[in-house]
Amino acid sequence: MIYPIVKYGQAVLETPAEPVVAFDGALEKLVSDMFETMYAARGVGLAAPQIGIPKRICVIDTSSGEDPKARLVLVNPVIVAAEGKQVNEEGCLSLPDFRADTPRPARATVRAQDVQGREFTLTGEGLLARALCHETDHLNGILFIQHLSMLKRDSIKRKVRKMAKAGQW
Ligand code: NI
Repeated sequence: MIYPIVKYGQAVLETPAEPVVAFDGALEKLVSDMFETMYAARGVGLAAPQIGIPKRICVIDTSSGEDPKARLVLVNPVIVAAEGKQVNEEGCLSLPDFRADTPRPARATVRAQDVQGREFTLTGEGLLARALCHETDHLNGILFIQHLSMLKRDSIKRKVRKMAKAGQW
C-alpha cells in the first residue's frame, strides 16, 4: 500500500516518535508499505512520521531500488558516533522541491533493531551517512531545514506559507 506523504507544517513531523516495542506481522507489513511508498515517491529514505505514523521506524535505499542489498530498515535507531563533515545538497519528501546545501557528518554510526528486533550497528559514509542522520532526525521531530542558516530556513518557511495560502501545499 502506498501512503500519502505528510508535508511540512503537520505536527507529526516535528514531534518525537514513539519507540517500537512489538516486532510482529503488523510491523513487517508497515515496513513493506514504507518501501513501496518511498520508491513511488523516488526517495532514498522515508521515516514513519512522514506517513503520519509516530513510530521510530525508517527505511533507506541509497541505490534507489537498484541494489537489493542497499535496502535498510532501522527500528529505534540511535546515532552513536559521528565524525568529519560534508556539505551537500539535501532534500526531503515532506518538503518537495526544496533542496539546500546541508552540513552533515562525513561518517555516522547508527545502532538500531531490524524488523525482527535484532540489534545491529552500521557505519555509513557520504550519502549513506547523510541518510542515516536525516532519517534518524525525523524520528526526533527534526527536519533538514533545522541544519540550515536561519536566513535560508526562514526563506523556505516563507515560500511554504505562501504556497499553503495559494492552496498549493
Ligand atoms: Ni526527510
